[in-house]
Amino acid sequence: MATILVTGGTGLVGKALCKALQERGYDIIILTRKIKPIAQNPQLADRIRYAEWNVDAQTIDKDAIAKADYIVHLAGAGVAEKRWTKKRKKEIIDSRVKSGQLIVESLRSIPNKVKAVIAASAIGWYGADLSLNHSAEGMGSGIRKFIESDFSSDDFLGQTCKKWEENTEPVNQMGKRLVKLRIGIVLSKEGGALREFIKPLKFGVAAILGNGKQMVSWIHIDDLVSMFITSVENEHISGVYNAVAPAPVSNKELTLQLAKSRKKFYLPFYVPSFILKLILGEMSVEILKSATVSSAKIQQAGFSFRFPDIKTAIQHS
Ligand SMILES: NC(=O)c1ccc[n+]([C@@H]2O[C@H](COP(=O)([O-])OP(=O)(O)OC[C@H]3O[C@@H](n4cnc5c(N)ncnc54)[C@H](OP(=O)(O)O)[C@@H]3O)[C@@H](O)[C@H]2O)c1
Repeated sequence: MATILVTGGTGLVGKALCKALQERGYDIIILTRKIKPIAQNPQLADRIRYAEWNVDAQTIDKDAIAKADYIVHLAGAGVAEKRWTKKRKKEIIDSRVKSGQLIVESLRSIPNKVKAVIAASAIGWYGADLSLNHSAEGMGSGIRKFIESDFSSDDFLGQTCKKWEENTEPVNQMGKRLVKLRIGIVLSKEGGALREFIKPLKFGVAAILGNGKQMVSWIHIDDLVSMFITSVENEHISGVYNAVAPAPVSNKELTLQLAKSRKKFYLPFYVPSFILKLILGEMSVEILKSATVSSAKIQQAGFSFRFPDIKTAIQHS
């Protein structure tokens, strides 16, 4: 069976992906900054080994590159983990730019049999919807969804995604297949955005952010994992694809659906934008901004979603 080298395989998406790849019989090498296998995921011990790289020093385990048939590149400093100070912004960019460079350089200099590189990117590429012309329920009314050929936004995440995606471009020139998945907000019970949305519910509060009309382009983690596997296994998948479910929802709808699924009684509460700006600083734009992104391209390529709507996605999260 083929060997898949997964960078960032210790993260939220990586853990779920490695488990699914293992179940399909793939051998997996997780490329990590520091090997700590037992703490990571004991149930994955079989067929998974770890290798180290140092993105700043541009060093990598050569054997890991030599053994890989495919590379899935997920690594990058968490975008929503810490306040966006100047230092943190540099970390967010550098971890993606330098890791991409290291992969490309390694593929150039180390003899290898890698057939394809499947790289993560984000819908932050697009920036905000051009107008917030949504109905009160938050269903898009006449909003044009972002598609893969749209230009990158000038804002911080738009420019980060641009640099991130440009970095792996040379893979194409080496005659290897390159797939980039622009990932939306990942819904997983193991962590990420969903865990943050659920926290206020412990106190019986459904916290709607800002006016709640901003559109959220989300994806269930199981669908995202399938999309990565589909990208590995299908040669006709090549280039950029949005990794979002077909039905984006407003922040209000997402919050209320979540509240309904978790609690009998809850109190909807609007958290004013200025409070979010005070708490989160510049990062608040990410949760207040509307981003309506299309899933049509990956569907036209034959991908079908297990969780196309928010209700079923939340029920299974
Ligand atoms: N989750 C989402 O909602 C979402 C949405 C859009 C895009 N994405 C993108 O999809 C990818 C995977 O997401 P995720 O949620 O699984 O991320 P995650 O849980 O934060 O994991 C990312 C992994 O990247 C590695 N990493 C962290 N900081 C790094 C640094 N400074 N330099 C090099 N490697 C570093 C870590 O692996 P080691 O500690 O083992 O080195 C970490 O486990 C990320 O690039 C993320 O930006 C995620």
